[in-house]
Amino acid sequence: MEDAFGHRISYLRVSITDRCNERCHYCMPQELQEWLPREGILSYEEILRILRVGVGLGIRKVRVTGGEPLTRRDVLTFFRKLSQVEGLTDIGVSTNGTLLDTEPEGPGKSMAHHLVEAKVRTANISLDTLDPDVYHRTTGRDYFDRVMRGIEAAKAAGFEKIKLNAVLMRHQTESQLVPLVQFAREQGLLLRFIELMPVSTRDVLHEERFLASGKARTLLEETFGTLVPRPDYKTNGPSSYYEIPESDGQLVGFIGAMTNLHFCETCNKLRLTCDGKLRPCLGSYLEFDLMAVLRRPGVTDGEIADFFREVVDRKPKEHDFRTDYTPNRRMIAIGG
Ligand code: GTP
Ligand code: 5AD
Ligand code: SF4
Repeated sequence: MEDAFGHRISYLRVSITDRCNERCHYCMPQELQEWLPREGILSYEEILRILRVGVGLGIRKVRVTGGEPLTRRDVLTFFRKLSQVEGLTDIGVSTNGTLLDTEPEGPGKSMAHHLVEAKVRTANISLDTLDPDVYHRTTGRDYFDRVMRGIEAAKAAGFEKIKLNAVLMRHQTESQLVPLVQFAREQGLLLRFIELMPVSTRDVLHEERFLASGKARTLLEETFGTLVPRPDYKTNGPSSYYEIPESDGQLVGFIGAMTNLHFCETCNKLRLTCDGKLRPCLGSYLEFDLMAVLRRPGVTDGEIADFFREVVDRKPKEHDFRTDYTPNRRMIAIGG
């Protein structure tokens, strides 16, 4: 599938739930803390059907997100079926990491381990800070130690790649930049810094809270020296990578949707929200009700495929975050 601007679409991000066991203020503002009713959420079978059709149209990579995807009931059954969808070559999960060390099917095997067995290749784990108090303040929960155990469990389980995501927040992340880079190096994990985006509410973008990725890079350079751009290194996502000098090749990524003017040029994705909307861009109001099509009696795969193509045809050239975008949906239901 190719859109009107020549973007080849091969990556589908799927939010399987809007529920979460944390309350990050940039994702779940106070006033938006209520869940969708169960029947308003796509069933696993419905998601799998959508994916099978998507694969026929060129989808190769799926990232399962939430909310916190690992809170949804029977999530392992879903991942096991997902791994059987023929043609998907890259399955990943984005998680807050708090449940990776739990043992959902009895002692001896962690959630992370089960995921690896279900052919999940990459785990992206949120970690904004290494300070447990700041962690508590940011996420509304005192789960820092659980995330540390989650990271350990993920490493032990043997994912092909584990990435750490740190959202950049002014007056908070500055002191964490160097420790996070050092932590990632010790752990052998790939760290990315993410600029705040006005998802959920526009308030998150308040000047007081915004820290540009270029500024974060400059601050890191005070300690490490000039970071070397590595445009050759791509993970099939929106991050730009740099190498830390004299670090044995450690890379650090920056996801700069707000300040990188070329951010959307290589976009290759669509999003499926947990309530069944196909969304061609995170930062655009456009979304299309795939659930309504899917639940029409007798709908064929061909009709679902046509719907996909129509959505791709209407994919915008770039996001509207830098202009007048005021979010109409909670991040948590879109899945980031
Ligand atoms: P990889 O496939 O591992 O490269 O994943 P990813 O970076 O796409 O996924 P992840 O779930 O770790 O997301 C990291 C951050 O990037 C989140 O804050 C996402 O909202 C943001 N992000 C990912 N894709 C896009 C995109 O297409 N547009 C925008 N604006 N943000 C994105
Ligand atoms: N801006 C940028 N990133 C965000 N995330 C959640 N909300 C926002 C926001 N407003 C990030 C999480 C997680 C990823 C999937 O999305 O921290 O790492
Ligand atoms: Fe939950 Fe992730 Fe949103 Fe935080 S950013 S509230 S962990 S879904």
